[in-house]
Amino acid sequence: MTQLPSFSERLLSWFDQYGRTSLPWQENKTPYRVWVSEIMLQQTQVSTVIPYYNRFMSTYPCVTDLADAPLDDVLSLWTGLGYYARARNMHRAAQMVVGNFDGEFPSSVEALETLPGIGRSTAGAIVTLGHGGWAPILDGNVKRVLARFHSIEGWPGKADVLAALWVASESHTPRMRTGDYTQGIMDLGATLCTKSNPGCLYCPMADDCQARIENRPADFPGKKPKKAVPVRSTIFLQCIDREGRILLERRPPNWYLGRTVVLSRTTRQSGGSRLALR
Ligand code: ADE
Repeated sequence: MTQLPSFSERLLSWFDQYGRTSLPWQENKTPYRVWVSEIMLQQTQVSTVIPYYNRFMSTYPCVTDLADAPLDDVLSLWTGLGYYARARNMHRAAQMVVGNFDGEFPSSVEALETLPGIGRSTAGAIVTLGHGGWAPILDGNVKRVLARFHSIEGWPGKADVLAALWVASESHTPRMRTGDYTQGIMDLGATLCTKSNPGCLYCPMADDCQARIENRPADFPGKKPKKAVPVRSTIFLQCIDREGRILLERRPPNWYLGRTVVLSRTTRQSGGSRLALR
C-alpha cells in the first residue's frame, strides 16, 4: 500500500487549489492588519466582517491611529458587529502596543497573549499570518477538523479534550509555509469540514479521517454536557376566597436572588405546583 502524503502536505495542496487568497486582510499583510481581522472574525462570519474591516482600516490604518482614537469613535465603527468587549479590548491592546512595545506588534505567542482579547489561538494566527513565524492555532473550525480526523471524543471546553486538540494541532503544523497551512486549515473547516453536511467526498483528509472511516463526523467535536436542572417538588397552600380572589403576599425586594425559580406546573385541583430551585 502506498503511503499517503502527510496531513500538512495534503492540506497545503488543497489550499493551493481551493484556499482563500484574496480576502482584504490577506493584502498588504502586517501583524496589525492580521490582528484586526482575527479579532473581528472571532464569532463573526467572513462576509459580515469584510465591510467593517475595510471601514476600520481606512479610519485607523495603523496601530497608533487606533491607540490615539477616542474609545467612543472605535465603538461607533463597531456598531452592528456585536460582542463589543472585542472593540474595548482592541483599543486597550493598541495602547499597550504603543506604550509597551514601541508600536511594534510582538512576534511571540507569549508576548501577544499579554494583550487583552488575544488568546493562544489568535496569538498563533498573528505569529503565522502576520509575522511569518511558527505557532499552532486552534479556533472553532480547526477544533472540528482535528477532532474529526483523530476522532477525539469529548467537549473541547474540557481541559483534557482541549489539550489533546492542541497536541494534534502542534503535531500537524509544518515549519515551512506555516501561514498558508494556518489559512488552509481554517478554510477547510469553514468550507468543507463544516458542522453539518461535511463534504467528505472532496476532502483531502478523507482516506485516514477517523470520523469519516467510522461514518460519524457529526459526533465531533463532542457537545457540551447538559447540566441537569435539579427539580424539587413542594406543596403549598393557595388561599382563595369565595369570590375566587387569591391571597398574595408581597416579597421583600430581591428575595429570589441567587436562585432560579421555574414554576413548571400549577394544578388548581391539587393546589400544588412544582418549583425548580437552583
Ligand atoms: N477565521 C478566523 N481567521 C480567519 C482567517 N484568517 N480567514 C478566514 N476566516 C478566518
